Amino acid sequence: KIIILDFGSQTTQLIGRRVRELDTFCEILPYNKFPKDDPSVIGVILSGSPFSVHDKEAFKVDLSQFVGRLPVLGICYGAQFIAYSGGGKVEQTGTREYGRANLDTVDTSSPIFKGFKKGSQVWMSHGDTITAIPDGFHVIGSTGDVHNAAFANDDERVWCVQFHPEVFHTTQGKELLRNFVVDICGSRQEWSPASFIESTVMELREQIGDDRVILGLSGGVDSSVCATLLHRAIGKNLTCIFVDHGMLRKNEFKKVMEAYNGLGLNVIGVDASEKFFSDLEGVTDPEKKRKIIGRDFVEVFNAEAQKITDAKWLAQGTIYPDRIESLSITGMTIKSHHNVGGLPKDMKLQLCEPLKWLFKDEVRRVGHQLGMPERLIKRHPFPGPGLAVRILGDITREKVRILQDADDIYIEKMHDYKMDDGTELYDHVWQAGTVLLSTIRSVGVMGDERTYEHPVALRAVTSMDAMTADWAHLPYDFLADVSNEIIRKVKGVNRVCYDVSSKPPATIEWE
Ligand code: XMP
Repeated sequence: KIIILDFGSQTTQLIGRRVRELDTFCEILPYNKFPKDDPSVIGVILSGSPFSVHDKEAFKVDLSQFVGRLPVLGICYGAQFIAYSGGGKVEQTGTREYGRANLDTVDTSSPIFKGFKKGSQVWMSHGDTITAIPDGFHVIGSTGDVHNAAFANDDERVWCVQFHPEVFHTTQGKELLRNFVVDICGSRQEWSPASFIESTVMELREQIGDDRVILGLSGGVDSSVCATLLHRAIGKNLTCIFVDHGMLRKNEFKKVMEAYNGLGLNVIGVDASEKFFSDLEGVTDPEKKRKIIGRDFVEVFNAEAQKITDAKWLAQGTIYPDRIESLSITGMTIKSHHNVGGLPKDMKLQLCEPLKWLFKDEVRRVGHQLGMPERLIKRHPFPGPGLAVRILGDITREKVRILQDADDIYIEKMHDYKMDDGTELYDHVWQAGTVLLSTIRSVGVMGDERTYEHPVALRAVTSMDAMTADWAHLPYDFLADVSNEIIRKVKGVNRVCYDVSSKPPATIEWE
């Protein structure tokens, strides 16, 4: 495997995904947690960082743990740190270099640049500049502004690039990472969905034996793939619980139950909407709403789980990005998240998390390989508290009904709208949903009558990991069609707006 040491860059996870796309297993670890005695490590990548090597708080690592023993690739801050530690010079120029640049000179005899073209486009994002490289290194790539854009030490097998090979805008970035991971580190590229399923099913059988397992389903991709995988491993010894809190999408409970039954899963569906609506009555504060839903959910789930008295395991669809130890620099709670399931108290259950090494796109590939329905696999993420975080102010059944109808029109039309290449607009969006601005009313006219009703906001974003997101540039004709249909068909709504905020500074959900 490849170890990626994280110095806090926004694109560290992206490096991980790129390495996995090369069918190579990798782990992302905090910069100071290099696994010293792990013989399966074949190479090390150092990520970028929000810090400058000169900052007092800058993350520092002892390079002697791996330099000289394993091939090393330093990216951005990683490159600067290697230069700085080896006696080179990193200077604060005061101006950030951000965006496209071209490799005017590139040494294609260097194994890292095999197949590179002169003038190849690279993406820069850095404040400091490396003005002198350490002894033993030589320059292998330069751009117009940055002479030391790439440099290497062949004897020690260290390669450094100031630009970001993991991002889309570095045109030959995938080739660079392939050169490193496959040619230099010698990955055999054996990590694939099929091999993952085969080995995981075997491990699960061994781990669980004839024990009974409980799993909380949410209708989302992760828990569904987790259930299907477990079902393949242990069959009828898996019992799933799907709680309806009443704030799911239109007809979702029924549709998802049908899909699960079609997959042969044993699912207990629990309609607990009465309890949720009554506990939420009159509550308007977003954090209070989230806390109540989270608490009620655990209560309902636990009560159900306790009925399965012989259960020994609780399975969860936790995926890798949920677990990567984050080097969060502020540590502030923006929203308290609620996820499906929770360890029932009083029950001594062991935790089983078969997807814990997978990125989202790998979970989807595994689902595909398991033969799950396409619609289920490619579903957008949906928040645990459901439509409750998309209704401003207090929550009533009537408001949920209005939002369900609007959401249904929006999402179905997103499936129907075809792009030039025949794919659905839905597939080009990371996540989409409607928000009921129920604390606001505006005047409209319908036929000859004055209306005084609520607006609905449409939200759609593009993203890689939900940490940052841009608003999706949806086609105008699509927006016009959705707006018409919602105002015409959904009683209680007389205006539709489109949310054009990116994250940060906004968030994806409104509450
Ligand atoms: P925000 O609004 O923080 O959302 O930008 C980021 C992503 O997380 C989803 N989300 C949740 N998912 N439980 C979940 O499982 C939650 O409580 C929750 N709140 C937000 C949101 O839909 C988006 O994909």
